[in-house]
Amino acid sequence: MITGALSLAITVGIFLSLAALLLIAERYLANYGSCLVSINEGSVEFEQSGGVTLLSALYDHKVFIPSACGGKGSCGYCKVVVLRGGGPLLPTETPYIRRSEVKAGVRLACQLKIKEDLELRLPEDLLNVKEFKARVSLIRTLTHDIKEVNFELLEPREIRQRPGQYVQILAPGPDGPVFRAYSVSSPAFETDKVQLIVRLVPGGIASTYIHNLKEGDEVVFTGPFGEFRLSEEPNKPVILVGGGAGMAPISNIIHTIYRRWPDRPCYLFFGCRTTQDVFYRDEFLKLADQHPSFKVVYALSDPLAEEEEWDGDTGFIHLSVDRLLSEASNRQAFLCGPPPMIEAVTEVLEKKGFRTDDVFYDKF
Ligand code: FES
Repeated sequence: MITGALSLAITVGIFLSLAALLLIAERYLANYGSCLVSINEGSVEFEQSGGVTLLSALYDHKVFIPSACGGKGSCGYCKVVVLRGGGPLLPTETPYIRRSEVKAGVRLACQLKIKEDLELRLPEDLLNVKEFKARVSLIRTLTHDIKEVNFELLEPREIRQRPGQYVQILAPGPDGPVFRAYSVSSPAFETDKVQLIVRLVPGGIASTYIHNLKEGDEVVFTGPFGEFRLSEEPNKPVILVGGGAGMAPISNIIHTIYRRWPDRPCYLFFGCRTTQDVFYRDEFLKLADQHPSFKVVYALSDPLAEEEEWDGDTGFIHLSVDRLLSEASNRQAFLCGPPPMIEAVTEVLEKKGFRTDDVFYDKF
């Protein structure tokens, strides 16, 4: 017994010593020298001493790419195309890279360490992403767990975002700062501010940080990011389905639409559990009075308490979509809410004849 335990301890000891030696060797002995990182055929280039992750090198050189997990290798957002250099795909990357992406040279920037010259290809949009400094100008409590937080931009003072895009806010975490993604809820034409709608996630680093902010506090975020593309066809109907903090991109889209296309057909479906979770409804009903092409449906999924009054819909929101939306082609849909809601609504939309390319979604 004792001999077995002793030999196990010795084996573990040897293993740990080897691991420590490898780390030390990697840190102090491996000298990769200076490496050239070239992006989009040299439109951005910088020299970087090797041994650091590509994600941190890009950040240090003000090239901001999405990274919702703060570089831990658990979100799969930090994808870049590596055309030359980079070595073989690492086991930590494989869960996030599809087979077709492997062929195209897609890598996770937070896992890839720079050890040689690299040639990268990034979407042009990402080269326009900036780092912003902003000050909290107004906070509104929308429900028991959702706040609307408004930021006045300090540096730079202007943001160009498309409705549905998001920013990544820098929040202090127990193991160092982390970035977390939040959709911008202020309309695209309000270029001097950024508004977020944030639900407090129990134990959530960034949502706790944002919920504890006070007016006058300063924050840092990068952005805008995101693939949502509202069609520019002025008469193309837009269907918005959401729940909870999924309201953020939806609110941005609605206000942007009615500023540019006062008669554009738009249908809002918003699912809540109880009347306690309802927000912005009066504001949208008022907007619908001014724009008859705007239809607003809020539905409560939990039964009403006896004393409660409610003149909206009841039941799960995908059932309202199924009942009220006619079959037609050439429409765009944006779905923003919890994954089960998105799955149920996607099924309904497929039945109604929506093309996959016309359905965008964001899971909250
Ligand atoms: S930053 Fe999350 S996987 Fe790379």
